[in-house]
Amino acid sequence: MSVLERLEEISGIGRDPVRGGYSRHLLEPAELALRDWFRRSARELELAVEVDGNGNLWAWWGDPGPGVIATGSHLDSVPGGGAYDGPLGVASSFEAVALLRAEGWRPARPIAICAFSEEEGSRFGMPCLGARLLAGEITPEAALARVDSGGVTLADAWRQAGMDVSRIGPDRDRVALLDTFVELHVEQGLDLEERGLPLAVASAIMAHGRWRLTISGEGNHAGTTPMPGRRDPVVAASAAALAVRDVALEHPTARGTVGRIAVTPNGTNVIASRVDAWLDIRAHSDAQVRAQLDSTVALIRKCVAAEGCVLDVREESFSPLVAFDQPLTERIAGVLGGAPSIATGAGHDAGVLSAYLPAAMIFVRNPTGVSHAPGETARDEDCEVGARGLAAVLRDLAGK
Ligand code: GLV
Ligand code: MN
Ligand code: MN
Ligand code: MN
Repeated sequence: MSVLERLEEISGIGRDPVRGGYSRHLLEPAELALRDWFRRSARELELAVEVDGNGNLWAWWGDPGPGVIATGSHLDSVPGGGAYDGPLGVASSFEAVALLRAEGWRPARPIAICAFSEEEGSRFGMPCLGARLLAGEITPEAALARVDSGGVTLADAWRQAGMDVSRIGPDRDRVALLDTFVELHVEQGLDLEERGLPLAVASAIMAHGRWRLTISGEGNHAGTTPMPGRRDPVVAASAAALAVRDVALEHPTARGTVGRIAVTPNGTNVIASRVDAWLDIRAHSDAQVRAQLDSTVALIRKCVAAEGCVLDVREESFSPLVAFDQPLTERIAGVLGGAPSIATGAGHDAGVLSAYLPAAMIFVRNPTGVSHAPGETARDEDCEVGARGLAAVLRDLAGK
């Protein structure tokens, strides 16, 4: 097989006819179908499959035991996401194992292929939920109480999928078995395209926080309510989005985004009573994210007050700056023939796991540089180069 053929097997799963691209959210039918594909892919390679208590999938080459070299990524997507963010890492991991098996090579340590639950946080709001639960960064109670946009709790979603809620939570014994985690991922920018190279390694991930802003106003009739004196949260939220952009622009490398807004009740002829808007801030240090948040919220408070509305701000997640393990990253770059090292603004399970074990990432060139959108791309030949590179890395790391 090839990576391309592996991705073709899932190319019909979770297409979003409205947004374009793919919407594959935790434990919804498309994501469940991808889990079946993971099991089938593992079975074809005679790998034993296991689902841990946090819904993360593991395919084992060799018996689980100390010194595991783990690789993989995630299968979920953002709403209307691309075909590669997540699945490329999982498909490349299966392909790398297939290549190594075909050579007749056998690992001296166990190799695991993982697919972590809810990396994007698209359904329950917490990015890297499965990896964080595994590591004990979020309590089972907090996770189980999370609610999706349809009012379904994570606990209910878990039960509906036939999974055991009592198994959710930290799995330190499993983490202790892991020696190294390597995540292959499509690049989410143009760095490699500009350099004319197929692969890179990751040096760092920007610090990242997400907050939910709730702006409450007064619902009323669009025709009968005079303009002066309205308390319209949509107007306040619009000013808030501009404030987010303006504060981020003050810092050359910072990012500030409002990508999701929910208007209540969302009627054309209704002045809204409430707007929920999600704020995503990223920067090159944790302190910079916090400082940017403070300036942004101060400005938003003024916008909200000017419209006679009320603001509530709640943190949904915070992911500190990640500096990947340098010796490991240099070793992998060497195996890949001197691949460059690039920093990224995108979050990854490898970033969460890097707090507990040496972790690294391999990026595959993306000719459009687009990600989290249907225009995300990777050339077929680069995907195969990536899988061969990952195979070489596994051979190096798991060979002794
Ligand atoms: C996840 O991919 C993120 O960076 O938001
Ligand atoms: Mn993503
Ligand atoms: Mn991803
Ligand atoms: Mn991500």
